[in-house]
Amino acid sequence: MSSLFIRQARILLPTGEFLVGDVEIQNRQIVRVAPRIDVTDSDKEIDASGLTLLPGAIDPQVHFREPGLEHKEDLFTASCACAKGGVTSFLEMPNTRPLTTTQAALDDKLQRAAAKCLVNYGFFIGATATNLPDLLEASPTSGIKIFMGSMHGDLLVDEEAVLEPIFARGERLIAVHAENQARILQRRQEFAGITDPAVHSQIQDNQAALEATQLALKLSKKYRRRLHILHLSTAEEAELLRQDKPSWVTAEVTPQHLLLNTDAYAQIGTLAQMNPPLRSPHDNQVLWQALLDGVIDFIATDHAPHTLAEKAQTYPNTPSGMPGVETSLPLMLTQAMQGRCSVPQVSHWMSTAPAKAYGIPNKGAIAPGLDADLVLVDLETYRPVLREELLTKCGWSPFEGWNLTGWPVITIVGGQIVYDRGKINPEVRGQALNFVSTKS
Ligand code: DOR
Repeated sequence: MSSLFIRQARILLPTGEFLVGDVEIQNRQIVRVAPRIDVTDSDKEIDASGLTLLPGAIDPQVHFREPGLEHKEDLFTASCACAKGGVTSFLEMPNTRPLTTTQAALDDKLQRAAAKCLVNYGFFIGATATNLPDLLEASPTSGIKIFMGSMHGDLLVDEEAVLEPIFARGERLIAVHAENQARILQRRQEFAGITDPAVHSQIQDNQAALEATQLALKLSKKYRRRLHILHLSTAEEAELLRQDKPSWVTAEVTPQHLLLNTDAYAQIGTLAQMNPPLRSPHDNQVLWQALLDGVIDFIATDHAPHTLAEKAQTYPNTPSGMPGVETSLPLMLTQAMQGRCSVPQVSHWMSTAPAKAYGIPNKGAIAPGLDADLVLVDLETYRPVLREELLTKCGWSPFEGWNLTGWPVITIVGGQIVYDRGKINPEVRGQALNFVSTKS
């Protein structure tokens, strides 16, 4: 039996209060949280004085590229980046090669992750026009991913007549990338020939996102189907949900859509290109307010790495997407330390709320009986995001140069130290996540 004691950390409790105290971990679980625990023969002790202990972040939307696109990222490099960023669990998307649209492809990912993933993992199954039986049977999965737009090939499901039976049959969570593909295609023609990447936000405009979100909501209401709206990006969608959000619908926002806007194209060019695109400062502000008010439930990074060579092509030949798992927690904790929100709110959005929304048992808080997925962060020191320190295989970040606090010092997955002051322990392995039904 392995034990671990964390001594004198500032511990975030499930009530949102902090306790300066000790945490006892036996095997993979937290067994005690108390002001002082007197034990002398533990396997290992961590002196955490001056550090804040949070539940490990759960990133509920990432693209880790394995199998098939390992030149961009793979499950080992991505999970190292997670460990460094304080992300102890992730939910990964089906646009790998082959696409994750069958049980066999899902099993293959689970096996790969068991062999090489340093943090806990779950995978979505992707909807196509023809795989409803797979969608109904697949297990274990965080849910069904539908690309309503911004996709080509089998994973694009954009017609209402094809979407409807997917919403009508079965009960499991449907997560949508909501952009109206027909509108995008039409606007691509209107803006053809323009190579300034800033046009990306005009082509895939707010209206394209709003129309698809409206359609997803309509179908979800018709069938009372559990719906999650991925990376909400516009003021219009936030206002729509503020007016009309059924209890079985959740939504997320990325740090990019909160903290970056169309001004970023002038600074970092195609590195700012993602789907749905960056929006205006007004959208940033409305999304923030929706998050603070609970209209948006939680945060995901949409970690979508592409190589610098791919990003160096000329728009529109450049791929959309940016990495995020290494910077999301410090980005949001910096916002908290600067007064925009609180540390307990950040932890709620990045751990407690995604665990609840996806029905992931025993995670998302620090309490006896829960899994020992934890991150010790330093909320005092500021350090910049440096390209040379990044562990993601793509080797860049849209936030390079940003001076952040809240950097993870130690990350613990299932009671094992996976990251300790700059050093990864490559021997640690995460576990497959379980999912229980979350329809209310
Ligand atoms: O920008 C994006 N990139 N958005 C997506 O939805 C997909 C992702 C990717 O896989 O590159």
